[in-house]
Amino acid sequence: MGTIVVVGTQWGDEGKGKITDILAEKADTVVRFQGGNNAGHTIVIGEETYKLHLVPSGILNPGKLCVLGSGMVIDPQVLINEIKGLEERGMDTSNIKISDRAHVIMPYHRQLDKLEEEKRTSKIGTTHRGIGPAYFDKISRIGIRVGELINEAEFAKKLKTALELKNELLEKLYGVEPLNFEEILKEYTEYGKALKDKVDDTSLITSRDIEKGKAVLFEGAQGAMLDIDYGTYPFVTSSSTISGSVCLGAGIGPRAIDSVVGILKAYTTRVGEGPFPTELHGEQAEALREAGGEYGTTTGRPRRIGWVDAVVLRLAHRLNGLTHGVITKLDVLSGLPSVKICTGYKHKGRIIKEWPASLEVVQECEPVYEEMEGWSQDLSEIDSYEDFPLQAREFVARLSEITGIKFSIVSVGPRRDQTKIIENIIF
Ligand code: GDP
Ligand code: IMO
Ligand code: MG
Repeated sequence: MGTIVVVGTQWGDEGKGKITDILAEKADTVVRFQGGNNAGHTIVIGEETYKLHLVPSGILNPGKLCVLGSGMVIDPQVLINEIKGLEERGMDTSNIKISDRAHVIMPYHRQLDKLEEEKRTSKIGTTHRGIGPAYFDKISRIGIRVGELINEAEFAKKLKTALELKNELLEKLYGVEPLNFEEILKEYTEYGKALKDKVDDTSLITSRDIEKGKAVLFEGAQGAMLDIDYGTYPFVTSSSTISGSVCLGAGIGPRAIDSVVGILKAYTTRVGEGPFPTELHGEQAEALREAGGEYGTTTGRPRRIGWVDAVVLRLAHRLNGLTHGVITKLDVLSGLPSVKICTGYKHKGRIIKEWPASLEVVQECEPVYEEMEGWSQDLSEIDSYEDFPLQAREFVARLSEITGIKFSIVSVGPRRDQTKIIENIIF
């Protein structure tokens, strides 16, 4: 047994939830290690659709230990509702553990997320869930951790200090009403009581599981291009979304990681603002958006659509040290006369193959495409990958050649059985 990390290789929504659910079947423990309820992971099981924001996608396989790691920022109200929703649908949630070191998203984080975004001349298009402001407080050392939320006296002290600062900001900088200490204290103390039994030292639990030889799966949120350091900064999220972040966000050592699985769509989507070199507009984008149901799981916003981009994927491959790749949504490209792969960018007469740090350079880049013949057959109900039309298999093979990513799974629909295994990914 060993460990597998699942990460997004584009701008999120690659289908991490679906693939985590598939791989979780053989796992003992499933761990989220970064982000918060900016994530939206959709999983379809039979006739049922589940939308998870905080709870790891392993929860839909009964009996798995599901961990919310220390690298996460947790909105307790959202978590309580998510757990309640799962219980109402007959799921056992007794195996959920929450890190005592994870940070709590407070009402002022959500409010500041909106106010900061309104003030920005160049919008990021955040999910307004308070993610950035919560990570800001963590780094500024005025954040409140889950372990403090569940300790009434300590929570009151921490809240007092933080709220004094935040209310000054709200009143003096943004000109809005200050928040009420007593009301927040009362509301959040109740949340603390509701979650207390699930709070634990999850680094210790996860590390011991690994030592015992259990199968541990780590579920990433967002994607490499939304990474705070290597993504399209400042149009990124506020956490580290790549495999290196597992060690920090789950509290394990780097030698404990065995496999890293990168999830990518057969095309590209992005929600929110920021550069997107292969973006399509007009009818073609509209058609793919409808075919792929490309509307945000968290905010319902229409996702921006573009061709698959090997420059992006090469960066994601390098940063994550991918051992395996998974292509999702290949079914969505069916019926197109031709399909395109961006192989590099043309910049001032030169061809760039690696993603540049400067967004100014990115804006000046023109994608260079390789165009391939499309296929008309519907892939979603074909039993085996060998029976796929040759053009579809050639597309996958060529993408592998250009990016250097070895594909182990091809997904052709949201359901579990619409998953074609080329090579088993084993713990
Ligand atoms: P995540 O954030 O990476 O987990 O991805 P999301 O759940 O936000 O978005 C992926 C969407 O595509 C979900 O609605 C999935 O049910 C759906 N999906 C996943 N894989 C496939 C696939 O291979 N084909 C199709 N058509 N839909 C898929
Ligand atoms: P999953 O896990 C797609 C985007 C937002 C915005 C930027 C910053 O479902 O793939 P934030 O609220 O994090 O400060 O917003 O990041 N974003 C996502 N886009 N999928 C996600 O998660 C995202 N989480 C954040 O749209 O552009
Ligand atoms: Mg999503």
